[in-house]
Amino acid sequence: MNKSVLFVLMLLISSCAQTQTSPSSTNTVPSLFERIGGLPVLTVVVSETIDRSVNDPKIKRSFDGIKLSTLKQSVVDQLCVLTGGNCVYEGETMQNSHRDLKITTAEFELFVEAFRTSLNKHVGEREKNELLKILAPMKRDIVTD
Ligand code: HEM
Repeated sequence: MNKSVLFVLMLLISSCAQTQTSPSSTNTVPSLFERIGGLPVLTVVVSETIDRSVNDPKIKRSFDGIKLSTLKQSVVDQLCVLTGGNCVYEGETMQNSHRDLKITTAEFELFVEAFRTSLNKHVGEREKNELLKILAPMKRDIVTD
């Protein structure tokens, strides 16, 4: 093998190795958390959803005496984790935190509707549907009727 063939071969091998070891962050798909707009948008959506629920006579009763700023932070942390954000959720399971509230299907649906209203304002259609898909299966742990 002459020197120039060897040189070309070495070049090929090294460019191959580089392709394989190049950082994956350059071509990873953005998480739902990122596509939503991260914590600023999640915080607004959760805040609007809870404020709307607290002012809705049909579901407000569960929020009596609850510290809303703490609840909002907890829901933001939870949704941040579930959408792929870099947060820590230290709250209770959905079952434990909602058991005593005896939440009905109708109340759950109104709460999700409040979410939908806020998501409509702040995120794209695709992101809204992906987030609603994360919330839907929680129903079985939250609703007790
Ligand atoms: C998919 C829908 C829901 C999600 C993702 C959700 C999420 C959460 C989270 C993360 C907490 C905090 C738990 C903790 O910090 O230990 C919480 C607590 C609470 N949630 Fe929900 N929730 C949902 C539905 C509802 C509904 C439908 C209601 C009432 C109509 C409700 C009322 C409350 C209340 C009042 C608390 C505070 C309980 C307490 O501190 O004793 N939630 N929820």
